[in-house]
Amino acid sequence: MSQIVTADRDGIRILTLDNPPVNALSFALSAELLPLVRAAEDDANVRAVIFSGANGIFSGGADVNDFATEPTPETKTIRDVIAAIERGKKTYVAAIDGNALGGGLELSLACDYRIATTRSKVGLPEIKLGLLPGAGGTQRLPRLIGAQAAMQMMLKGESVAADEAKKRGVLDEVVEGNVVDAAFGLACRALEKEPKRRLSQRQAELGIPGLTANALPFVAAQAHKMVPPEDNGGFAAHKLIDAVEAAVELPFGRGIAREARLFDELVRSAPSAALRHVFFAERELGKIPGLPAAEPMKIERAGVVGGGLMGTGIAITFANAGIPVTVVEPSDEATERGKQMVFGMYMNQVQKGRMTQEEAWKRGQSVVYTDDYAELADCDVVIEAVFENMDVKKGVFKKLDGIVKPSAILATNTSTLDVDEMAAVTQRPEQFLGLHFFAPANIMQLLEIVRGKRTSPQTLATAIALGKTLRKKGVVSGNEFGFIGNRMLFDYSREAMALAEEGVPPYRIDAVMKDFGFAMGPFAMFDLSGLDVFWHIQQAKTEMKGRSNIVDRMYREKRIGQKSGKGFYRYEKGNREPIRDEEAEKILAEEAAAAGIAPREAGDDEIRKRLVYALVNVGADLLARGVALRPGDIDIVYVYGYGFPPHHGGPMWYADEVGVKSVYDDVLRFQKEFGDQWRPAPLLAEIAQSGGTFAAYTSKELVHA
Ligand code: 3HC
Repeated sequence: MSQIVTADRDGIRILTLDNPPVNALSFALSAELLPLVRAAEDDANVRAVIFSGANGIFSGGADVNDFATEPTPETKTIRDVIAAIERGKKTYVAAIDGNALGGGLELSLACDYRIATTRSKVGLPEIKLGLLPGAGGTQRLPRLIGAQAAMQMMLKGESVAADEAKKRGVLDEVVEGNVVDAAFGLACRALEKEPKRRLSQRQAELGIPGLTANALPFVAAQAHKMVPPEDNGGFAAHKLIDAVEAAVELPFGRGIAREARLFDELVRSAPSAALRHVFFAERELGKIPGLPAAEPMKIERAGVVGGGLMGTGIAITFANAGIPVTVVEPSDEATERGKQMVFGMYMNQVQKGRMTQEEAWKRGQSVVYTDDYAELADCDVVIEAVFENMDVKKGVFKKLDGIVKPSAILATNTSTLDVDEMAAVTQRPEQFLGLHFFAPANIMQLLEIVRGKRTSPQTLATAIALGKTLRKKGVVSGNEFGFIGNRMLFDYSREAMALAEEGVPPYRIDAVMKDFGFAMGPFAMFDLSGLDVFWHIQQAKTEMKGRSNIVDRMYREKRIGQKSGKGFYRYEKGNREPIRDEEAEKILAEEAAAAGIAPREAGDDEIRKRLVYALVNVGADLLARGVALRPGDIDIVYVYGYGFPPHHGGPMWYADEVGVKSVYDDVLRFQKEFGDQWRPAPLLAEIAQSGGTFAAYTSKELVHA
């Protein structure tokens, strides 16, 4: 089927990209577009060419799926199309309506003029896929808006709204209404005045007032310092800076060749493969195998019970999505704190220029506090965010069930407790599920959607749609203790604690994990979330108790982390920076000795493997039991909820990267050395022995653990 629609109007050829859903500039589309560009060039009746997009979008860029295939000499890519435009003699206009991203914007940059509708957005987000713009973007954008501005836009992978893009000089015109008509008018005017304006003919300037291109080495050196190290998340960023440098230093043709070489290197790199996996895993989330089709219910009003940090964070999340929310909180003091938090948050947005005063006021007003459950009667969904205690939560739901309208969904924000047990106290277990937000709820992107035994397809579909509305990564989980994320965290924490008991100081364990790419190490994380939380979980689940009494002792001595100024680290007043604390290390050593644990040496390699492979092993178990639907779901949970380095793709992707067999061999070795907590999950053994990968594992329908 043709992916391009051709039309002629008064000597102007209109080529409309039509490759749903996002008009990706695939190899196949490029193979079709290239002869059309050549034909337009050869046709004496064609004076100008307009590119536009069907499907409500200009183009989402190159087809990310194509990157997994090695192009053959016959393959045509968007680069070939752009080269033909570059060589051509006609006038080219990009008529943008909707997104023009990646290769989509690069195609526009090869044109002489760019015109867009007000709702459009343009950007070069390749960096988010561990790539750099590889179809001329790194060479043309600096020639258009200056090297500094172009570099920043590409390093952020920023998507810029049309008006702003015009201000920055990326677009020539922004219009309301039919963009192809407007592009036609623009082309006619251009043909009379300035038919050709190829960016390749320009010189790239730095774009920093007072500085000439001679300052480039200094600017580039600064930029290299600002991005993460090459082996820890910055692989593409450093190459992108090199490409921009080439745009200023080299003639256009050589710059393009440099860009192509750097791009080709990146596209084959492990970090890019991992980030592309994360991209596709995210888009799989809402697809639930075996879920009967069900129309999501409309969520127009929300309620939250509990106005603490978590409840208020959830309320802000709803307000940000334009859904009014009522928070029930009995304590005046907590209500006051909650209101302050809402107010402070929106003030901050205004101060940072991210929101107008009016918008901030409107959103702030849509969060209402009350002490009366009756005010929740009309809500379409009510989320409980009270103290983590089964009886307290059951009490809340009994009450809600009698008050909230019968069609509404009730949800718990518990992080560990049994969702079915809570559902059972209501008359509507089909409309009950877990919505597990991560603190701070208005910032963290992860949302675990916990499917109970009796949760109906419609309730689940509604929660998935709601997750999207709230701009969260909604991952469906079975009703396991700790669901996906915390269940895995328990094993990770167990190993971290075991290493500390063996005499490896917390700061070293944390350093190894940060080196691997984690946003923070396990001990800084324990201190951040509070050891009291951990202690409470241990009380409820005795199998969570470690070999020693460390947590107990720290809890007793009020070393519960940042909240008390000391935990595994110490903290100076008003500063969250963990400082090594030898006193804490002494406590660790004493408790380890009391438990009869002999100190031993552990290398960095062992530390990393014990922590990450603990995640992989339990992840495999959750997969096999259907608690997690897909390896990619686990990866999304870890990348978005627990700071797992995205350039390693998540624990399950990382296992594939290392080789599942090699992970399995280490797990077996750990089992021999450290005990049965390291028993390999049967699925890990199965995949290792068959020489397979987690990526190739196909899920079954969610079963309930
Ligand atoms: N390649 C292949 N598939 C893509 C794609 C792309 N560039 N962009 C989106 N898709 C697919 C998605 O996988 C999804 O497929 P599915 O329906 O089978 O799950 C479908 O299109 C719809 O995508 P979304 O669910 O994300 O739809 P939204 O409407 O929410 O968002 C979008 C649309 C803003 C275009 C968003 O998809 C997006 O940001 N896409 C990626 C943009 C990007 O990174 N482009 C750069 C590509 S690399 C490149 O161009 C290299 C060049 O420099 C040579």
